[in-house]
Amino acid sequence: MDWRAFFDQHRSILESHYPGLTVTRFLREAQEIGGDGTAFLAGVPFAYQLGYAEFVDHKFTVTTDVLIPRPETEQLFELVDQAIKNHPAWRRLVDVGTGSGCLGLSLAHAHPMLSATLADISPEALLVAKDNARNLGLHSITFQQSDLLKEIVGLFDVIVTNPPYIPRSAHGVHAMTDRHEPHLALYVEDAQYEAFFTRLFDQSARRLTSDGMFFMEGHEERLKDCAQWAREKKLTQVRIERDLAGRERFLVASAPRTPIGS
Ligand SMILES: C[S@@+](CC[C@H](N)C(=O)[O-])C[C@H]1O[C@@H](n2cnc3c(N)ncnc32)[C@H](O)[C@@H]1O
Repeated sequence: MDWRAFFDQHRSILESHYPGLTVTRFLREAQEIGGDGTAFLAGVPFAYQLGYAEFVDHKFTVTTDVLIPRPETEQLFELVDQAIKNHPAWRRLVDVGTGSGCLGLSLAHAHPMLSATLADISPEALLVAKDNARNLGLHSITFQQSDLLKEIVGLFDVIVTNPPYIPRSAHGVHAMTDRHEPHLALYVEDAQYEAFFTRLFDQSARRLTSDGMFFMEGHEERLKDCAQWAREKKLTQVRIERDLAGRERFLVASAPRTPIGS
C-alpha cells in the first residue's frame, strides 16, 4: 500500500477524524497497522487499530471495551506516585473504574510493596486489565467487579480514580471519541451527576485509612462542584490541581478527621 498517496488522496477526511494529524504521524501509524485503510477512513482511533496504547512506561492492550489512556491521566499517575513516595508506610491501593488498568497497574509496577485492587463495573474492561497485569508480570493484583466502591471491602491508603466525568449534555466531545470509545467510560447523565460523585466521595471517605488519600481526575467545569460535594462527605484538605493545559483537572483529598465507619 502506498500510504503517502493514500494520505494525499484522503487528507481532509483523515485530518477531520484525527485532530493535529501530520503526514509523518500517519505514515508511522499506517505502516505499523497495515490493512486497506478502511478503518482510517472510518476514523477508528489508532490505538484500537494497533491494539495497544502507551501510558507512562508501558504498553497497555486496549480494546473497544476500554477507554484509550490519555496524556492528562499520566499527570494523575505522577500526583499519586509522588504521594506514595512521601508515604512509605502505605500498603493498599484501589483503582476505581480501572478500564485498561493503566493507572493502577503502573502504580503497582512502580511500587511493588503496594497491594493493589482494580475495580470496574464492566466485566469486559476487567478482562483487558487482567491481560495487562499478566503482560506486566503483576500476578498478585485483586480484580473486582463493582459499582464504584460498593463491592469493595477493607480500607485503603490510596484511592485513585479516573471515573466517567463528561456531563452527557457537554459540547466539544470529539466525534471520533463519541463514536468509538465506550460511553460507560465517558459520560455521566446530567441528572445523575451530583448523585454519582456524592456516592463516590461518601464511599471513599469510609474506605480510607486515617492517613489515606483520595485522587481523582474530573471535568474542568465540574471540579469545583465535586470539591464541595467531597467536603460535604467529610473528606478533608480537598484541593484542585490543574493539568498541563492549565485546566482544573484533578481533585486531591485526605481522609476524614475521624473515621465515619462503613
Ligand atoms: C474514564 S474511564 C477510565 C479508565 C482508566 N482508569 C483510564 O484512566 O484510562 C472510566 C472507567 O470507569 C468505569 N465505570 C463507569 N461507571 C462505573 C461505576 N459506576 N463503577 C465502577 N466503574 C465504572 C468504566 O467502565 C471505565 O472503565
